[in-house]
Amino acid sequence: MAAVNLRNVQKRFGDVTTLHGIDLDIAEGEFVVFVGPSGCGKSTLLRTIAGLEDITDGELKIDGIRVNELPPVKRGISMVFQSYALYPHMSVFDNMAFGLKLAGMNKVEYTPHVMRVAKVLQIEHLLERKPAALSGGQRQRVAIGRAIVQKPKVFLFDEPLSNLDAALRVQMRIEIARLHRELGATMIYVTHDQVEAMTLADRIVVLRAGRIEQVGSPIELYHEPANLFVAGFLGSPSMNCVQGKVAAIESIGVEIELPGKQKVRVAVDGKGAKVGDQVTLGVRPEHLHLVQEGNAIAATALALEHLGDASVLYLQAPGSDETLSARLPALTRIADGQKCLLGFKPEHGYLFRADGSAFRRLNPLAE
Ligand SMILES: Nc1ncnc2c1ncn2[C@@H]1O[C@H](COP(=O)(O)OP(=O)(O)OP(=O)(O)O)[C@@H](O)[C@H]1O
Ligand SMILES: [Mg+2]
Repeated sequence: MAAVNLRNVQKRFGDVTTLHGIDLDIAEGEFVVFVGPSGCGKSTLLRTIAGLEDITDGELKIDGIRVNELPPVKRGISMVFQSYALYPHMSVFDNMAFGLKLAGMNKVEYTPHVMRVAKVLQIEHLLERKPAALSGGQRQRVAIGRAIVQKPKVFLFDEPLSNLDAALRVQMRIEIARLHRELGATMIYVTHDQVEAMTLADRIVVLRAGRIEQVGSPIELYHEPANLFVAGFLGSPSMNCVQGKVAAIESIGVEIELPGKQKVRVAVDGKGAKVGDQVTLGVRPEHLHLVQEGNAIAATALALEHLGDASVLYLQAPGSDETLSARLPALTRIADGQKCLLGFKPEHGYLFRADGSAFRRLNPLAE
């Protein structure tokens, strides 16, 4: 267990800057998840913490000690890659024992460690096999096992579950959460999977183009995103956004005029806004309902998808070519081209300024 502290960590490849000065404090035993679009620097950040990339500028501390100049093996970290990176010519047992052998242990010493971890991961019956004779999920377990036996202070995971099928991902996700509870180790985890991020993280770090956009608990980020980028990034289908203008500012919220003169109200603190300001209204798909009147957006149905437990209706937003989506009850029937009114509670709305920053929501956890 160890804290990880990054101060103004920068990474340049030639004249391309990939990390623009990352400041982040990860507490001992914390589970932190990095998310962000492809190419935003998640793997680079993880690799700089691991020592697989050197740091161009700034400082990295693990367990209170500056490690910028330390090679990976001296940092007390273990990394699990998406590609597993197992040694193909070695048995599962030898793959798992490899790091301990390198550290100078003999067979009598390392065998009990390997056996104990193999038991935890339920791969005892696979120890004599080579990686080629394992399923993807079994290989992933071996890769995680190889990381665990070394008892690192910090675990680094780079999309460890992305090659697995849906059922196995769920199983491994639960296993990783359990391991975190049992080992109490600091874990830093990169994923593109919203559910993994929301369920595993104590805190999520949202990255964009080499910069941190926001850091917070999953609930904070979901309900109180700092800006349009974070709001649109977390949630699936993503938040609906409609351009509009401030029509009135009241104590209970802000009234917005949408294209087509429709007006809706959002329960946000409108301090600092002026009537006529350009704003973006945000509403999550799960908060839209078909209504006859009220606080609602008019739109035209484009397509309806039945997911079994729910239906997702795609609509053409008013006065723009943006597509909206609404998560509706299963078996909803709507014809393509039908005009719809999508109602929402003012407390469920989000509002963003022209620069993308969010207005403070008055009741972010409203049901
Ligand atoms: N060795 C390298 N040399 C030059 N540029 C690199 C190198 N490694 C990464 N980059 C660049 O740095 C940027 C960030 O890459 P990185 O792999 O960290 O992204 P990522 O967030 O992990 O993306 P993904 O979600 O696709 O895995 C990219 O633009 C990438 O092309
Ligand atoms: Mg990556």
